[in-house]
Amino acid sequence: MKVLVCKDYKEMSVEGAKIVAEVMTKKPNAILGLATGSTPVGMYQELIALNKAGKIDFKDITTVNLDEYYPIEPTNDQSYRYFMNDNLFNHVNIDKNKTFVPLGNAKDGEEEAKRYEAFVRSLGGADIQVLGIGRNGHIAFNEPDTELVPVTHVTGLTEDTIDANARFFASADEVPKQALTMGMGTILSAKKIIILANGKGKHDAVMKMLKGTVTTSCPASFLNLHDDVTVLCDEDAYKG
Ligand code: GLP
Repeated sequence: MKVLVCKDYKEMSVEGAKIVAEVMTKKPNAILGLATGSTPVGMYQELIALNKAGKIDFKDITTVNLDEYYPIEPTNDQSYRYFMNDNLFNHVNIDKNKTFVPLGNAKDGEEEAKRYEAFVRSLGGADIQVLGIGRNGHIAFNEPDTELVPVTHVTGLTEDTIDANARFFASADEVPKQALTMGMGTILSAKKIIILANGKGKHDAVMKMLKGTVTTSCPASFLNLHDDVTVLCDEDAYKG
């Protein structure tokens, strides 16, 4: 794992955008694996600025997102589909038909998980996967547990994650209790991975991941199995 410690959130976002932009420049029809959460928002703003400045082109880009609440309507302003439209897709020249998020309103969650997994695999995996990290070390919605599911699946959210995500909803009661998420195997099928972490709250999770061993109690530690991972963090997340 390569680690890049940035002085602050802004620098982390700029550095993250540079890596994504480089992949897009080398491969104009690249498949970008994208993440939600507050962490990548700054990086998306940098990508929007690069697109507006004519430095990167989204015309032939395909995107696949990691996860989505379940059940949720894509039009709900807390859905990850809405988040992606609002924070990136609505502001760049991407063809929305080539942007994919698991369908939170699918009738059968298990079927949707199978369909999404097959779809991502049929693309051959992402050229680059952008990740955030939960304060308990979760990746997408792969929560710490005694076992992890390697493929896209329906999962329950832990109290900690419901708590952490409650800030976006009117109350914790309104946070959906389940989600559709890529598994760690789906995520590791990406050719290149960058993981962003900022703030002291992420310090413990980042340290556990950087220890170099693999444990289901910290799903992020599974990234040690991949040979092209760059950790971008600010000083707070790195030093605590
Ligand atoms: C959610 C998402 C994750 C994200 C995590 C951290 O649970 N499913 O993909 O990494 O939150 O979010 P934040 O960046 O807001 O700290």
